[in-house]
Amino acid sequence: MALITWTREQFGTNVSVHDQEHQSLFERLNNLDSTLVSGDRGAIGAALDSLIDVVAKHFASEEANMQKIGYPGLAAHKAAHDKLVETCVDLQKKFHEGGAEVTPETTAFVRDWLYNHIPNIDKAYGPHMNGKGIV
Ligand code: FEO
Repeated sequence: MALITWTREQFGTNVSVHDQEHQSLFERLNNLDSTLVSGDRGAIGAALDSLIDVVAKHFASEEANMQKIGYPGLAAHKAAHDKLVETCVDLQKKFHEGGAEVTPETTAFVRDWLYNHIPNIDKAYGPHMNGKGIV
């Protein structure tokens, strides 16, 4: 069973590029979660790297659009992004050095972060972007 499933009702921002990015991000997170049962460190590391790559690109994409429209919530939103990236990159470094593991608690943490962030933080930019022609 997938760890997280995208639905428009729960996660839709009304900005198609970001909805697509979120769906891609969910796929990578589900892939990482399903890889954990294998215990294959190489596969887990590749899935972790892939997830973090997509997360970083998505955050940059959102921040570019928020910047473009002069979104008033940009600084706080970016701070939330930066905090997650810092946590993920720290884990990534430790994992590849052999000093940490990726566990079901790790993927649940990211899932819960998304459960909170997208509905409560991301959705707020939808009307602002739509009003500036980003749909
Ligand atoms: Fe979709 Fe602000 O992350």
